[in-house]
Amino acid sequence: MKEGSNEPLSNSKEMPEGYFKELKRQELRKAELASLLDEALKEEARNTDTGPETDSGPETEIVFEAGCGHGHWLTSYATKEPEVCCVGIDLIASRITKANHKKEKRSLAKLHFLKAELNEFLEVLPEHIKFKSVIFLFPDPWPKARHHKNRMIQFPLLKLLAQKMAPNGKLYFRTDDQAYYDWTIEHLGASEAWTIDNQTAWIHEEATYFQNLMDSYYSVIAQPMTLNG
Ligand SMILES: C[S@@+](CC[C@H](N)C(=O)[O-])C[C@H]1O[C@@H](n2cnc3c(N)ncnc32)[C@H](O)[C@@H]1O
Repeated sequence: MKEGSNEPLSNSKEMPEGYFKELKRQELRKAELASLLDEALKEEARNTDTGPETDSGPETEIVFEAGCGHGHWLTSYATKEPEVCCVGIDLIASRITKANHKKEKRSLAKLHFLKAELNEFLEVLPEHIKFKSVIFLFPDPWPKARHHKNRMIQFPLLKLLAQKMAPNGKLYFRTDDQAYYDWTIEHLGASEAWTIDNQTAWIHEEATYFQNLMDSYYSVIAQPMTLNG
């Protein structure tokens, strides 16, 4: 498998009108997300007594869960580590609403749930936010070959994530789907940005909604290559 397989956008001058409408919707979504994120992390800055204010805000390390669903896992982690800033995102608004109920019930000021698509979230994430940990728990496996492009783990994503990791940051991936596990191992192995970490223990054991439905699962932990020189 080779890195960098994403095809460029078509150069055709005859782009359908729907394409431009979707671009416009995407821009509006990202602007709204950027504003929500800014608000959440400003709040975070107020709740933190370290980190000097800079033009782009204080450098902040966060624990980030992509595809957090109803927020079971991240709420449990944030309850155990209330001083750590945690951000969970999911595409589905009703799941984020449920996740926010959990946060409010436990008064977890440093826990934030946002409705967002992963790549759009990374595009609007301010430079000074770095990932202490990135967690993927039971992401949609998209088993058919023609749908593999929908999987969250892709080479461009791995490259971008590696640039946004804090020193000693780790990526944690868990799935019940062996084919998606193999895909992730292959992508991490072929990526120039990551190396598999067999030494580190799992970040926090708390069965998610989907984990509870599965008989077994596979986990992998990785770290950015730069740590090894
Ligand atoms: C199978 S569920 C797992 C939810 C949760 N992690 C768990 O283990 O219970 C996968 C979740 O990922 C979300 N998701 C899928 N693709 C996404 C994307 N590109 N960006 C953000 N969330 C995404 C889905 O909406 C769904 O809630």
